[in-house]
Amino acid sequence: MNDQKIVVITGASSGIGADMARMVASKGWTPVLMARSFDKLEHLRNEIKNDYKTTAHSFQLDIQDKKNIEAVFNQVQHEVGAIDVLINNAGYGIFDYFEDAKMEDIEGMFNTNVLGLMACTKAVLPEMIKQKSGHIINVASQAAKLATVKGSVYAATKHAVLGFANSLRMEVKDHGIYVTTVNPGPIQTNFFTIADKSGQYENNIAKWMLQPSEVATRVVSAIDKPVREINLPGWMEAGSKLYQLMPAIVERLGKKAFRQK
Ligand SMILES: NC(=O)c1ccc[n+]([C@@H]2O[C@H](COP(=O)([O-])OP(=O)(O)OC[C@H]3O[C@@H](n4cnc5c(N)ncnc54)[C@H](OP(=O)(O)O)[C@@H]3O)[C@@H](O)[C@H]2O)c1
Repeated sequence: MNDQKIVVITGASSGIGADMARMVASKGWTPVLMARSFDKLEHLRNEIKNDYKTTAHSFQLDIQDKKNIEAVFNQVQHEVGAIDVLINNAGYGIFDYFEDAKMEDIEGMFNTNVLGLMACTKAVLPEMIKQKSGHIINVASQAAKLATVKGSVYAATKHAVLGFANSLRMEVKDHGIYVTTVNPGPIQTNFFTIADKSGQYENNIAKWMLQPSEVATRVVSAIDKPVREINLPGWMEAGSKLYQLMPAIVERLGKKAFRQK
């Protein structure tokens, strides 16, 4: 990978995506911002230009719109240059008991968190294979490792991301491409305005929330390194590891902790 990196970030209009874009710019690299809210992307692009004296680019993209993904990524390659890093960050959750979950919400979460992420990956992979380098970073969640009550569909999408990344990593290793999965616990972002409309979960876990800048720093510092996973906070990852060893016991002991939503 060269020193002047072009880093595409999906879901860059808010939360950790916006903070990762700022940090990419602070390193003198070129962030390419993607999301549906073009006005927010343009606002961030101007902020980055003023604060870091570096160029950012914004492209409106709904990653549920599979037909448009290839066209937008081709446009980036023509107008900005070869993509060094793709951060698949766009995603959302809706917390509900499965019996109450609407089929359209289930499809929406899979379309964005899984199929959209795969389509963006497909859009960059041929060029990365040709250039024999690249880094694909997928933002999953601790929900990719440990499912909790009212999180069945969201957890299923993030388990899918983790499984996808684990296979892809082995497939592309010999092409010089790195694949990293990011598994954060709860982060103080707009995520909860959709996920938890009552605000109850956000209240219950307020003291454990990560700050978006904390997560963004960890991700951006892993760029260009063959990091398998970024897991945070440490205590939550320890819980997830224990869960993999003895799920029934952890579910019994953690009964209350698993019902915060
Ligand atoms: N916050 C948490 O507690 C938490 C914990 C673990 C993992 N995560 C994951 O972290 C990632 C970022 O979330 P966040 O916490 O930063 O939340 P956020 O502030 O709500 O950001 C989500 C971003 O995704 C974009 N997005 C959503 N649907 C999209 C679509 N169809 N096409 C393109 N962009 C889309 C949104 O932009 P537009 O609306 O403008 O399109 C926004 O920029 C997500 O994958 C989330 O699952 C979050």
